[in-house]
Amino acid sequence: MLEDQLQEAITKRRTFAIISHPDAGKTTLTEKLLLYSGMIHTAGMVRGCKGRKAAASDWMAMEQERGISITASAMQFSYKDTVINVLDTPGHQDFSEDTYRTLTAADCAIMVIDAAKGVEMQTRKLFEVCRLKKIPVLTFINKMDMPGREPLDLMHEVENVLQIQSFAMNWPIGEARGFKGVVDRQKKECLFFQKTAPGGAQKADTIICPLKSEETKNKLGNDEYEKLIQDLELLDMAGNTFNHDDFLQGKLTPVFFASALTNFGVETFFDAFIHLAPSPHKRLADTINGGEIEIDPVTTPFSAYVFKLQANMDRRHRDSMAFLRICSGRFERDLVVKHHRLGREIRLSRPHGMVAGGRTTVDLAYPGDIIGVINPGVFAIGDTISLAGGFNFKPLPQFQPEIFARVSPQEVDKRKSFDKGILQLTSEGAIQLLKSYDMLSESIFGAVGRLQFEVMQYRLKDEYGVETRLTPLPYLCSAWLIGDLKTFKKTTSCLLVQDRAERPVVLFTSQWEKQYAIKQNPDHQLVDMLA
Ligand code: G4P
Repeated sequence: MLEDQLQEAITKRRTFAIISHPDAGKTTLTEKLLLYSGMIHTAGMVRGCKGRKAAASDWMAMEQERGISITASAMQFSYKDTVINVLDTPGHQDFSEDTYRTLTAADCAIMVIDAAKGVEMQTRKLFEVCRLKKIPVLTFINKMDMPGREPLDLMHEVENVLQIQSFAMNWPIGEARGFKGVVDRQKKECLFFQKTAPGGAQKADTIICPLKSEETKNKLGNDEYEKLIQDLELLDMAGNTFNHDDFLQGKLTPVFFASALTNFGVETFFDAFIHLAPSPHKRLADTINGGEIEIDPVTTPFSAYVFKLQANMDRRHRDSMAFLRICSGRFERDLVVKHHRLGREIRLSRPHGMVAGGRTTVDLAYPGDIIGVINPGVFAIGDTISLAGGFNFKPLPQFQPEIFARVSPQEVDKRKSFDKGILQLTSEGAIQLLKSYDMLSESIFGAVGRLQFEVMQYRLKDEYGVETRLTPLPYLCSAWLIGDLKTFKKTTSCLLVQDRAERPVVLFTSQWEKQYAIKQNPDHQLVDMLA
């Protein structure tokens, strides 16, 4: 009986992340998901603060201004007969590391592409993580209401740049200002949309007509109708065929053309999404005796792992939260679980869930759900907890830092608060702390992007009352060194340091120097990412 309940809850769940290059429309699409699920009644409130996204303090302030907290990590709500868990993946490229880790908690991803820009840099990087983690990806080609590139051209780009097959689930009718609807290729129906409020604040009206009908012909006029029929025939002949398993295995991405802003094609996309996207499934874990084990969401008792830490979310309590992705079994409030790394039991009291608008206390949760628990310093990123014990979920990916600096408190008497803040920020993975082998007392900070440093300085000041001084270092890339440290041939300007886990890292002043070091050390490996 309980198992049936669990199975039913799992079947209903869709846990996913939306990935995109900044400005492609991720926030707009997320908001439309809330509009169509009935969580909000008017769209256009979530965004705002345009042009201010780049500054750290604005980014922080913006979270408070937006009704929905963007560091909340995940929101849960119902859409039709499913339970949606949408994970937040900060869009700014400098937050990519956090984004990458969050992606591991998703069962699938929606890739938003701007129809005028195609596959951009950040999308490419995020897509690579999806590939690495075998996360199936749906493609949402956005801004079809604006002049953009040819649909076929965009599909080719997806295929060539990302090395994945694509299949157009729908096909746009008209373009730019003339974008009036989409063809559902499977049902052979045309969906014509009509705006009901400026800026897509309300749901769009939809009129459905059979593709091959007088009605459609009349709506389009002879020429546009004939062209549409020809385009679709060409797609049927020359395009890929759709296979759901290929999508689940990450070999094929279903493509949808739409406009998130005007709501054209948005509802049909969400409907297709809940049908195509997988519910939480088995995950591979490492057993403590060196083997691998499949963690089944239904038959394995409760298990979860920490994918994100965040301090000071609630200013009144100054608490630190650990965000857990539930992988198997039923979670009940006050559950006592094994903390595998610490080798002791802990009680998960006061668990929080995130719904649009704020936190709620969670009494029950299921695989696919994200819960936040207060973290009195016991959780680190990647920690596994479970009822049964005996295994650990796969380590989370870590990326090579690309910018480096020394950071110190401006006032000497703030050293203690500084150290406390640094300990918290590094344990959250917000910034990487590296130690020089020559001088272990010397701290070097590494980040994947410049904004990470801005956020670090902002948070040290805001949360720990410490003004800091930052001295940039000349290194531009790095790599983890795998192999014997003693036989590694150093280049003249590289620096050998160790990360928090005491793994050797080499900092280089240029890509050229890094490539040279790789050539000079054929018996060593220099890796960019620890997956
Ligand atoms: P992001 O989260 O991926 O960074 O993108 P976001 O949703 O914030 O959208 C970036 C810009 O693109 C916004 O315009 C947004 O209104 C616009 N946009 C999103 N989807 C569509 C679409 O389907 N069609 C069109 N024409 N525009 C779209 P902005 O001018 O930067 O902000 P705002 O002044 O509209 O608030």
